[in-house]
Amino acid sequence: MILIKNGKVISAEKSVMADVLIDGEKVKAVGPGLDHVGAEIIDVGGKLVMPGGIDPHTHLDLPMFGTVSSDDHYTGHKAAAFGGTTTVMDFVPLDKELGLIGSVNKWRHKADEKAAIDFSFHMNITHLDDQISAEIPKLLDEGITTLKVFSAYNDRLRLDDGEIYKVLRQAKELGMLVMLHAENGDIIETMVSEALSAGHTDPIWHAKTRPGWGAVEAVLRGTAIAAQAEAPLYIVHMNTGGGADMLKYAREKGILAMGETCPQYLFFTEDEYLREDSSKWVCSPPMRGKSDNERLWQALENDEIQVFSTDHCPFFYDGTKSISYEGEDIAIPGKELGDGDFTKIPNGLPGVGDRMIMLWTYGVGTGRISENQFVALTSTNAARIFGLHPDKGEIRVGADADILIWDPERELDYGIEYSHQRTDHNLYEGMKVRGFPEKVFLRGRLLVDGDDWKGARGSGKFLKRKRGVEFI
Ligand code: URP
Ligand code: ZN
Ligand code: ZN
Repeated sequence: MILIKNGKVISAEKSVMADVLIDGEKVKAVGPGLDHVGAEIIDVGGKLVMPGGIDPHTHLDLPMFGTVSSDDHYTGHKAAAFGGTTTVMDFVPLDKELGLIGSVNKWRHKADEKAAIDFSFHMNITHLDDQISAEIPKLLDEGITTLKVFSAYNDRLRLDDGEIYKVLRQAKELGMLVMLHAENGDIIETMVSEALSAGHTDPIWHAKTRPGWGAVEAVLRGTAIAAQAEAPLYIVHMNTGGGADMLKYAREKGILAMGETCPQYLFFTEDEYLREDSSKWVCSPPMRGKSDNERLWQALENDEIQVFSTDHCPFFYDGTKSISYEGEDIAIPGKELGDGDFTKIPNGLPGVGDRMIMLWTYGVGTGRISENQFVALTSTNAARIFGLHPDKGEIRVGADADILIWDPERELDYGIEYSHQRTDHNLYEGMKVRGFPEKVFLRGRLLVDGDDWKGARGSGKFLKRKRGVEFI
């Protein structure tokens, strides 16, 4: 048994001074003045005790443009844990030859032996026919209750509106949740081919050919299709202020729409695409303007956006040069693959380890959000929406002992020295942070102790999630 003494225990609703008793993998008791003979005592002296973070949007070991995202299901999990996150959810690409269950098995095969924290999957529905529709219910047996669809990436990942409607309708019948990548594929394809024909190949054209209005319109369109299917919908990686406005509008009309945004859309703008190292910021959807940053912050403050995820999908900036990772030299082709052609730059950014640290300093530390909103946005809401609550997302009796001890006073200049993402850069390099994970427990087991890694490959568990969508 482990007894965490003298902590300030934070939930999505309240903060209380309390002790937490852990018995094996579970929380046994929470309350003031707890005692247990023989328990290992950890006195945290007033530091904060929060549920382990849940990041419902990562892409680990994802093949893209002739390479793979540079964190796999071990290194990405380790980086997550160092940043206070104990559960991640990854997206299974659809392999048409294998079908849905075959694709899931393939992804499990990659992940299971490596997993260092608990994890779950969403299924990408990037093609729809009778066979796929017939297989969707079988995902429930695998514990997969969420389907991602795309309104962009024509001829690759996109479904048309009628197909999105069909997926939403089926998901509703089955108690599943559809997640939407909301951009306008037709306009993007047109603009990209016109840009290339005109010889525009610089990274700024990645942003110019994926206009913000396309995302705004696609959020509204997605929620309107959800209304017609009478189904809930979750919009992923929201990048525009207008998208937040559309989500608010839909929710006010009674549509069961929810959304997430990610650190990159709060901290960076299109100006990053003019930097010398601009390819580091190439992701889809791209960063927009300062007013978008501001509106997205406001949406978090006002509980208009429910989840703070990352879309963690890291690539090396220069994959021709190796870095040292756990004592080994490693180089993975990355952003340099797109030198001279923005359409070939692997899309995606690191962030799984940065997420909670950045939101704490610049959200809680500035008074924009409360510590309770922080817990809701980084853990509890995702647990509820994605069917993991009450086992995860809250420190309560009977829950998994996924516990984060947070030192609100620790100050440092953040960057690659502190983040454990397996890549050669950190987007927040040099930014001051105040508030940092001190200890991280996964189901009662210490994974991170200060700067020390205590976790192991294979100790993370695949989480079969329950069906039924909790609307927040
Ligand atoms: O650029 C990104 N976000 N890559 C990951 C794929 C996606 O659409 O989420
Ligand atoms: Zn996406
Ligand atoms: Zn993504």
